[in-house]
Amino acid sequence: MRKPVIAGNWKMYKTPKESLAFLDAFLPLVEGHGRDEILLFPTMSSLAYVIEASLGTNVCAGAQNMHWLNEGPYTGQTSPTMLVSIGARHVLLGHSEQRLYFSETYERVNLKLKAAINHGITPIVCFGEMLAEREDLQTADVLRTQVRTALRNISASEARRLVVAYEPIWAIGTGSTAHPDVAEQAHGIIRQELAHCCGLETAEKTRILYGGSVKPENISSLMAQPDIDGALVGGASLVPTTFANIVKYE
Ligand code: PGA
Repeated sequence: MRKPVIAGNWKMYKTPKESLAFLDAFLPLVEGHGRDEILLFPTMSSLAYVIEASLGTNVCAGAQNMHWLNEGPYTGQTSPTMLVSIGARHVLLGHSEQRLYFSETYERVNLKLKAAINHGITPIVCFGEMLAEREDLQTADVLRTQVRTALRNISASEARRLVVAYEPIWAIGTGSTAHPDVAEQAHGIIRQELAHCCGLETAEKTRILYGGSVKPENISSLMAQPDIDGALVGGASLVPTTFANIVKYE
């Protein structure tokens, strides 16, 4: 009932030329694959090219971030209307690298989330605890607060479009993936909080992806968990064959 999403987050990697070379190799490898929704998140400089090159395929591309306003004196920012104008229909919000290195807050994520929904853009909102918080047994509280802040005043009908990613910060780019049971437990907490904020029906329908050192070797055991509805893949999404193997997990 929840169609899985396998998303590649390219972070600050790949020029437009490299992005198009990736697609040339990747599209034939996943041609006809309809079990999972396949998403790519290139840098802003490559996004329009990737969108154009993937038109009519089973792959969609979105932005790694956006502002919540349509225009204004905000150097370095891209607006929802600008994303829509190039055909982008997805955006990553609240990624931990935005939170850690660029002072992103969940109050701002909330504004961006509302703007995305108003513009018909599907937001993939990231949540996740730091290692110290996990060791301090704070994981559940941290996740609940993050979800509550990001979803403030979002109605059940607005949340219909929402996709969520659980990305424990200690697992991102470290090679140490969360054990499937650990991830499942966190997904359960997030789903409970979604139900609290937007109702049980919305919570049951919302896809919750796992992110943090996903590889071809661990995707199957993660996807076997009932509350894991896909993956947000960083490093392993940069190589066409590796990412295709993740998409085609068994
Ligand atoms: P990783 O990154 O797969 O390289 O750990 C995941 C992410 O940051 O979304």
